Amino acid sequence: MKRALITGITGQDGSYLAENLLGLGYEVHGLVRRVALEDPERRFNRIKHLLDRVQLHPASLESYPSIFSVLSRHDFDECYHLAAQSFVAESFADGFSTMNTNINGTHYMLAALRELRPRCHFYFAGSSEMFGKVRETPQRETTPFHPRSPYGISKVAGFELTRNYREAYGMFCASGILFNHEGPRRGFEFVTRKITSTAARIKAGQATELRLGNLEARRDWGHAEDYVRAMHLMLQQEVPDDFVVASGESHTVREFCQLAFAEVGLDYREYVRTDERFYRPAEVESLVGDATKARRVLGWEPRYTFPELVKVMMQNDLESATGLKAARPEAVGKAR
Ligand code: NAP
Ligand code: GDD
Repeated sequence: MKRALITGITGQDGSYLAENLLGLGYEVHGLVRRVALEDPERRFNRIKHLLDRVQLHPASLESYPSIFSVLSRHDFDECYHLAAQSFVAESFADGFSTMNTNINGTHYMLAALRELRPRCHFYFAGSSEMFGKVRETPQRETTPFHPRSPYGISKVAGFELTRNYREAYGMFCASGILFNHEGPRRGFEFVTRKITSTAARIKAGQATELRLGNLEARRDWGHAEDYVRAMHLMLQQEVPDDFVVASGESHTVREFCQLAFAEVGLDYREYVRTDERFYRPAEVESLVGDATKARRVLGWEPRYTFPELVKVMMQNDLESATGLKAARPEAVGKAR
């Protein structure tokens, strides 16, 4: 039985990845913040159905000794480093803590693994935000980076640290350059979930409008369930490498609104208002990925299409808003 450690197990991807690995017969461990252990009802919402099958260890990405302590007590075959301050808008509000968590946290993980578990396969959660002001379209593994936010800069640093540990110390370190991936467990602050949750509340008579920023931004959106399968495949290769994971299609925020509202029989133009507060100081206008390498080398294929993604998110939020929803894992928090 293989043993895996997931940092960020309480997040969207961590919860789907834990399910995926348990299904493959792994022993799954998660690194969680101590505050989360103190407020399990809310903080473990996405993994509450897995709690009797995973082992959780308190540690903070800001504390090297806490990470060292977990790794000194347990050996792992694979480590999926997903924990991060992942909201781009928040990184403009507090760039310092984003940098601290995302860059130092990654460095601490790599340094502790090198010291204690150098044979453990390591996955770093890289991002299409690293391409930022894109130099070519579609973006692939060889496209130069030009990040446009403190978050994007922190991910470039994490990516380079991961590559350097691979090259300098011969460790199995791989990075996924993942384009936006969503699903019913997405945090409410991200645009897709903000749209589907608010559209559902409008349909249920609980809200009257949806305030958004840039409706013309283009993203390459997939389903998180598909993307966590690619993470696992990356750590099963003979040789560590970096892979773009994307659907290859791009859509505007406006198109997402149009499809989501239409799903519940509404015309988005009657409810969506633009609001300066949700524009970013520097925007990533358009992203679309080329996942040819992941398809060829990993044999990865997404199962969800864009309309299917919108539909499952919309149905899930409609069930919640209308009280029809059974107790299923979902995101915590409120849209910003
Ligand atoms: P998410 O839902 O925001 O989850 C983030 C996770 O990181 C949570 O478990 C959170 O724990 C944990 N975390 C944050 N700060 C921490 C700290 N200081 N110490 C310990 N844990 C901390 O993010 P996601 O969508 O699952 O994304 C997973 C990873 O992939 C992130 O690194 C993200 O940047 C990257 N990524 C995501 C996408 C995407 O479209 N989803 C695309 C590319 C890359 P709490 O629950 O305690 O807050
Ligand atoms: N969040 C949000 N809220 N975004 C809005 C809004 C709004 O009210 N209105 C328009 N947008 C636009 C943003 O300006 C951006 O262009 C786009 O919608 C997507 O925003 P998010 O859903 O917040 O995601 P993101 O693309 O910035 O970042 C996500 O994807 C990255 C991969 O490309 C996150 O999951 C990152 O962690 C991830 O690395």
